[in-house]
Amino acid sequence: MDRPRIICHMHMSLDGKIVGDYLPTEIGMASQREFHALAWGPDRYYRDHKGWLSGRISSEDNFTHYRKPELDDAAPPVPEGDHIAVPDAPMHYFSVDPSGSLAWTQNSIDYFDTRAHVVEILSGRAGNAYKAFLRAQGISYLIAGDDSLDLEKTVTKIGEIYGVEELILGGGGGLNWSFIRAGLCDELSIVLTPAADGAKAAQSLFEADERYSSPVPTGFTLDGTRVLDDGSVWLRYTVDGPIT
Ligand SMILES: NC(=O)c1ccc[n+]([C@@H]2O[C@H](COP(=O)([O-])OP(=O)(O)OC[C@H]3O[C@@H](n4cnc5c(N)ncnc54)[C@H](OP(=O)(O)O)[C@@H]3O)[C@@H](O)[C@H]2O)c1
Repeated sequence: MDRPRIICHMHMSLDGKIVGDYLPTEIGMASQREFHALAWGPDRYYRDHKGWLSGRISSEDNFTHYRKPELDDAAPPVPEGDHIAVPDAPMHYFSVDPSGSLAWTQNSIDYFDTRAHVVEILSGRAGNAYKAFLRAQGISYLIAGDDSLDLEKTVTKIGEIYGVEELILGGGGGLNWSFIRAGLCDELSIVLTPAADGAKAAQSLFEADERYSSPVPTGFTLDGTRVLDDGSVWLRYTVDGPIT
């Protein structure tokens, strides 16, 4: 089976930031609700996916809050391979965490009114104790790659195991750019909120990280624009790839 079509769906401020003080404002929240509705609402535009991929820092910032997992180094060996704890969840949060470091305390996350089952995306670096920690909480995991995460294998596995032809790439900027650079992002969908906060250090839509990706001029073709009910602008692009 080919990999699913990958859509990077992101909420962004007018100054190109994906996190910051503009988010919890009235304008920021109204825009986030529109953003959520497009990919997760009952009448959503993106209908053929069963979840979204997020980077390790996004999971720490929003869900696990930089706690350390309490691991049992004496845990009995877990069976080899992937672990599907909940086979029929309607929605999944695919948490990219190659070394196995996130301190989950439950097997689902809530995002507005969407509940998603947590699926950790691990590499061969994740140890037995961490996998046992996930199993004990009913958290699923997929293993893709040995020393480092194999992004193509990750998305192909997700397509095969969950039977989906569409997958949402949900940030943050570091993970987004790795997918763009790997040629694994087909569409960019941005909800541009009519707000900004001017913060310098906040992450932007794309962030090259020398451990994983490099900066390079990249082109996009505009496929659609729509003004949403709250005044946000929804922009859709095809990802064309490197340009000179
Ligand atoms: N506005 C929105 O729509 C939106 C959506 C999602 C997230 N966000 C925000 O984005 C912020 C985080 O963005 P971020 O760019 O700092 O981090 P990120 O993309 O969430 O996570 C990056 C981390 O993921 C891990 N990773 C593993 N393989 C990777 C690969 N091939 N390429 C890139 N990363 C890989 C690395 O963890 P290790 O360091 O452990 O190796 C890396 O440091 C958060 O504040 C979050 O709230 C906003």
